[in-house]
Amino acid sequence: MKRIVLGVSAGIAAYKSVLLLRLLREAGHHVDVIPTSNVENFVGIATWEALSGNPVTASVFEAVENVNHVRLGQLADLVLVVPATADIMAKASAGIADDLLTGTLLATRAPVVMAPAMHTEMWQHAATRNNVATLRERGVRVIEPASGRLTGKDSGPGRLPEPEEIFASIQDLLSEPILAGTSVLITAGGTREPLDPVRFLGNRSSGRQGVALAEAARAAGAEVTLIATHLEVPPPHGVNLIHASSALELREAVFEHAPGKDVLIMNAAVADFRPATIENSKIKKRDDHSAPVIELVRNPDILAEIVQERGTKAQLPPFIVGFAAETGDDQGTVLDYGRAKLRRKGCEMLVVNEVGTTLTFGQETNAIQVLFADGSEAVQAAGSKLDVARVVIEQISHAIKGHAGDIS
Ligand code: CTP
Repeated sequence: MKRIVLGVSAGIAAYKSVLLLRLLREAGHHVDVIPTSNVENFVGIATWEALSGNPVTASVFEAVENVNHVRLGQLADLVLVVPATADIMAKASAGIADDLLTGTLLATRAPVVMAPAMHTEMWQHAATRNNVATLRERGVRVIEPASGRLTGKDSGPGRLPEPEEIFASIQDLLSEPILAGTSVLITAGGTREPLDPVRFLGNRSSGRQGVALAEAARAAGAEVTLIATHLEVPPPHGVNLIHASSALELREAVFEHAPGKDVLIMNAAVADFRPATIENSKIKKRDDHSAPVIELVRNPDILAEIVQERGTKAQLPPFIVGFAAETGDDQGTVLDYGRAKLRRKGCEMLVVNEVGTTLTFGQETNAIQVLFADGSEAVQAAGSKLDVARVVIEQISHAIKGHAGDIS
């Protein structure tokens, strides 16, 4: 739990800050909202108080006995200003302290994040550019505004990013550094097995879960290397990014980057088979209306292979996590198949999820069971792919410290 000051300056995007407040509260943080005096024209005090569960005022002359203009900033682990108008950034860069929020910004020594929102002309004005540069020089994290529809008919850079995006971008400041000093190699996405210069055999993996794992591991303080195979979503900032396409390329990349890492998370959906031959030119339709027969050969099982090689090569990751995409049937449940796979692969942890054309692949949410080779009780989690990723990272952190499975 972090103690957060959520400063809100007077822009129409203040309504998005209400949603950010919700996300922060749902994640278990204590939030003191400090609006500037004109915010009431957009969102009333009652909304901020009800959703934060704390008294809210813009004035330094209320609850004076608490010396709030200094105290809230001193107590805070993190100060956010969302939205940040051109005016509040100008005041903060000049060190003006004429209300509760600007006073707090001067008094705090906690990290400060500002998410600007204003019309494009104001964002691009030399005065604002200078103020942003000054704030950044002093260590304030000023989030780039999004580009898009603004308050009137105009559109351009100056739009407040969506609350979920802001929430995701400050995860490193909200999380406990449970993986500090740990190096983690993660594979994400789905491989493509070439047939000819234009065609491939692929799978439905979007890479969302792998990217969320990389984000959660980085937020937990780990040094992250992400091997990306055909992601449909942008990779997170702050990770060492490697690209691979086919299963064979992925295998090469894993064996190149795994030595020296503490943890390997094999999240990529790796094709089990590839075309036996890759045609040099595009496979053409034939006049006799016949269709080509494609012969497939087995791909190496990268996870099983690296676990096996570990027996002879000391510098390979001591903690390896597999993912199992399973479907249940009348022979066994998803969990039965998961347990059998964990034994077969020989890794330390297996994250099992049920797949189907509408489950897991390409979806925003996921439901998982984490199985441990040491026999610890399985841990379940469900929610957004980032929620699930955080649980996996927590479990890895506990397991490498020797306490697998004792948190939920
Ligand atoms: N995996 C791998 N190499 C492969 C296939 C899978 O390293 N050729 C890894 C995946 O990254 C994942 C785990 O093995 O961590 C399980 O993948 P899954 O597709 O569920 O299992 P398979 O071994 O392919 O078994 P099956 O498809 O028969 O259930």
